Amino acid sequence: MSEAFGKHAARGPIGVFDSGIGGLTVVRALRRRLPGEDILYFGDTARVPYGTKSSATVLRFSRECLGFLARRQVKLLVVACNTASAVALPVLSGAVELPLIGVIAPGVAAALERSRRRRIGVIGTAATITSGAYRQGLEAPDPAPEVFERPCPLFVPLAEEGWTEGEVPRLVAHHYLDGLLAEGIDALILGCTHYPLLRDVIAEVAGEGVALIDSGEEAARGTAAVLTARGLANPRQAGGRCTVYVSDRPRHVERIGTAFLGEQLEAVTLVDQSEVPWYER
Ligand code: DGL
Repeated sequence: MSEAFGKHAARGPIGVFDSGIGGLTVVRALRRRLPGEDILYFGDTARVPYGTKSSATVLRFSRECLGFLARRQVKLLVVACNTASAVALPVLSGAVELPLIGVIAPGVAAALERSRRRRIGVIGTAATITSGAYRQGLEAPDPAPEVFERPCPLFVPLAEEGWTEGEVPRLVAHHYLDGLLAEGIDALILGCTHYPLLRDVIAEVAGEGVALIDSGEEAARGTAAVLTARGLANPRQAGGRCTVYVSDRPRHVERIGTAFLGEQLEAVTLVDQSEVPWYER
């Protein structure tokens, strides 16, 4: 990359996509760490959830989301969706020349660093757990830690409903986590964009001895490192803007997105259907 292009590119936005609005938790982490960066977010709200779909379908959808952002001169892409990262990242990496960051590898690295007993739990969507992506990463070191996984599908609608406190989420958390806790895990990867919204209830059920690893937080840290290493960090230290596009229900996203983003969401734009390949007939 020439120096002139590098300087120009550094002022460009970071592209982030997710199956829906859950990836705004990753944007929240990015904005805290990189307040000067502009972010273009695409949430595929017309087709969420990805976590219950086949690998072939998740791969096709992910390619289309990536294409949407790549056409907008982004300087780096973050696949904020755990399901898309787990299923599609290796293929997507070969499809674009831009730096591409997923959420699996950063979550794995943090869990390996923080688990003392080498007994690690992973929770995510059915597709993420079935893909084996977290297990593969965690079991790469020799000797490998013990890995215990559990799909937690009900956490997604609870987060979307904003039902993140009280008896119902606590019961659901016990239902999903008690088996993992009985295995003596001391680190738990929150392997889904929605789970950070349930962090308090998960922490309460898991107890103090279990480190909760937020893959989005870790991906934000990784993004900052890549931007710096490649000379792509925006020289501005504050004032970055977050522009949100969705494929359906923009008003709904405006209503509930603030809880995910942790700040007031600016106007949400419904993607013009002529721009997205999946609407072509
Ligand atoms: N964004 C998805 C993930 O992180 C959760 C929602 C879905 O199933 O699409 O895995």
